Amino acid sequence: MAPAKSSPAKSAAPVTKKATAGKLKPASTAAKLAPNKPKNSKIVLIGDGAVGSTYAYALTLEGIGRELGIIDINREKTVGDAMDLSDALSFTSPKKIYAADYEDCADAALVVIAGGAAQKPGETRLDLVDKNLRIFYDIVKNVMASGFDGIFMVATNPVDVLTYATWRFSGLPSNRVFGSGTALDSARLRKEIGELLNVDARSVHAYIMGEHGDSEFPVWSNANVGGMALSEWIMRSPEITSEALNQIFDAVVNAAYTIIDAKGATYYGIGAAMARITKAIMSDENSVHAVSAYLNGEFGVHDVYTGTPAIVGAEGVRSVVPISLDMHESEHLDRSVRVLRETIEKAFAKLEGELGEKIPAGVIA
Ligand SMILES: NC(=O)c1ccc[n+]([C@@H]2O[C@H](COP(=O)([O-])OP(=O)(O)OC[C@H]3O[C@@H](n4cnc5c(N)ncnc54)[C@H](O)[C@@H]3O)[C@@H](O)[C@H]2O)c1
Repeated sequence: MAPAKSSPAKSAAPVTKKATAGKLKPASTAAKLAPNKPKNSKIVLIGDGAVGSTYAYALTLEGIGRELGIIDINREKTVGDAMDLSDALSFTSPKKIYAADYEDCADAALVVIAGGAAQKPGETRLDLVDKNLRIFYDIVKNVMASGFDGIFMVATNPVDVLTYATWRFSGLPSNRVFGSGTALDSARLRKEIGELLNVDARSVHAYIMGEHGDSEFPVWSNANVGGMALSEWIMRSPEITSEALNQIFDAVVNAAYTIIDAKGATYYGIGAAMARITKAIMSDENSVHAVSAYLNGEFGVHDVYTGTPAIVGAEGVRSVVPISLDMHESEHLDRSVRVLRETIEKAFAKLEGELGEKIPAGVIA
């Protein structure tokens, strides 16, 4: 007897049509937009402080990239760190690690900037803007003078403003400049939700969006655990109160202040987040991360870099993922973008006044 034919499913996975402003770019655009492909796996790190050196250690332990050059105004520290990190190589995997100069950026696939002033106790991230904008002007000019044609990842705060500045200073297309954005904040949110529900944080999908700073917000409407909406999970768990979610967000938004008060700086979480995103670039993963990406109409927002889920691969940010936001979340995003835009406008006007020149418009990709 002929085996019974299995009947095809009546309908494929449901497609939500609502509120998807902005189109997803297909992978085929990659060839056009791809920079110095990560064929050489060469990374140059600028800023060898707490964040930079922890990132370098994470790259070394995880075997990400085959070459790592380190630049800092404190050259001696980079020489020491390169030697110290190289001592770990017989336990990990081959990598050339050295104290670098700006000329070494010429053929790098990725330049990562974690240099500049850090938050002191009581300071907000936005308080750092004028100091770090000036530092970035010089750093980016030096990198571009080498002939660099790769991808920039920025971690220095205020990260959304400095990522925007890196894009404008470098003249590179917007997809090849991005920041660590709300990657760390989203990781903190996932960890907190995981602890609340006693589920592995890796099975929690939830984002913090907007400024990496005080105006950021959680996208509760899109949060899910193993595919089940967080709201439904909570409805089915009478022991969890909605107050618990507010406490979670408070813990996330204040985490940096709490850690800086306790030990002066935060670096393990951000170092791991940066290494994870670097792997996505080097392995052309096209995986989704909450990075500071250029918004060109997505969520109704134009001409700003801010924290959003985005597809990251060999070409940098392939596409923002325009997830649905509820009305409350959209208002939060608008508010956060307003804060960033005002900060950028003020800081750029001041810098242009000091330099006596206009910063050229950026290239949108
Ligand atoms: N994006 C995030 O989620 C996140 C998280 C934590 C910290 N940060 C930010 O990362 C940045 C670094 O923090 P940190 O704790 O490593 O600070 P740090 O003071 O330990 O290190 C900063 C390093 O930058 C170097 N530097 C300063 N000016 C430079 C220049 N012109 N060229 C090259 N190097 C230069 C310093 O010598 C120092 O080694 C800060 O802005 C901090 O706020 C971001």
